[in-house]
Amino acid sequence: MDEAQLHDLRARTPELAALFAEASAAAGSAADADAIEHARVQFLGRKSRLTEILRSIATLPVAERPVVGKLGNVVRVELERLIAEREAELRGASLAAALVAERIDITLPGAPLPLGHRHLISRTVREVEDIFLGLGYTVAEGPEIELDYYNFTALNTPPDHPARSLHDTFFIDEGTVWTAGASAAAGASAAAGTSPAAGKPPAVGTSPAADAGAPAEGQGFGSLLLRTHTSPVQVRTMESQPPPVYVICPGKAYRRDLDATHTPMFTQIEGLAVDRGITLADLKGTLHQFAREFFGADREIRLRPHYFPFTEPSVEVDVCCLLCGGTGCRSCKYSGWLEILGAGMVDPNLYGFVDYDPGELQGFAFGIGVERMAMLKHNVPDLRAFFDNDLRFVEQF
Ligand code: PHE
Repeated sequence: MDEAQLHDLRARTPELAALFAEASAAAGSAADADAIEHARVQFLGRKSRLTEILRSIATLPVAERPVVGKLGNVVRVELERLIAEREAELRGASLAAALVAERIDITLPGAPLPLGHRHLISRTVREVEDIFLGLGYTVAEGPEIELDYYNFTALNTPPDHPARSLHDTFFIDEGTVWTAGASAAAGASAAAGTSPAAGKPPAVGTSPAADAGAPAEGQGFGSLLLRTHTSPVQVRTMESQPPPVYVICPGKAYRRDLDATHTPMFTQIEGLAVDRGITLADLKGTLHQFAREFFGADREIRLRPHYFPFTEPSVEVDVCCLLCGGTGCRSCKYSGWLEILGAGMVDPNLYGFVDYDPGELQGFAFGIGVERMAMLKHNVPDLRAFFDNDLRFVEQF
């Protein structure tokens, strides 16, 4: 309301002027939402004096009617505006107060979430990998669904070889025999996850054409099976690259076994070194270094004669008992030694399968059972515990 209107109001309708003064003061001093609502009802409500005045205009002398009507409306509009303004002011203030009062300190640390960790078997694989990476080896991988040829034949274990009975093999499809050059059965190629065009899965990291030692046209690759060891990856590696070779082959292997020290699926890390002038002393030195890094400095190892079809001579390797240090205890059956792995010098016959020159090359190979390593190092009595996934077990490591 401007000065002129105010003047008019005071001069012509003193009651409205007084009412306006009182109401605008009440609105201006309302301290909270309740007070402003109270002022609204009191000064603009149905029972307010202003409403009463505006309703009774008809009873006034004719000359006063337009004056009171006009100025009464001016007062009403102006009061509505003042009250709305104060209301907005109060709302803003209470919001600001709430923002201060309810402020959340986001710098406080949150409630901790339980964090998982790698399974002991995965950790052991990495630990062994690290040791051999440090010795200059690289890591090679291959299919778990394997051809008879790579799992047995090319490892110096032909179909009628008695050593095949050492492996309790899961055959996948004994009816399907893969042959070089022939187009593959659809089911078998799907299982191997490769293109059926060449009649066999391609060798690791190479085209099938480069498979120097693969069976000749029409000759069999045998059935599909779950690999019984990761040695086939060694054959595939030699097929796919010229010597020298220094690889380790970690992965899952499968055999039909189940007791406290055997499970149908287990984890292996096999190693292969092929170069000029490699001797059994290199094998022993390498495994000794591995044993010391894995089980602790000063660990002694010993080699015992053994037999594997793909190595000649072959050995089994023992580590000095971790519990008694060699004096003899229940854990080592009072021998002072614990068997840790199989190994040997690569049988020269194998080179014929991969087109390596046996007159020029020598090599050694070894096969480490990962679960066995973890059991020995961490004193786990039953292999099956690794696969039960009981958190009370898993969380101990
Ligand atoms: N492949 C053998 C097995 O699984 C282990 C082994 C590998 C032995 C290399 C000697 C040399 O039983």
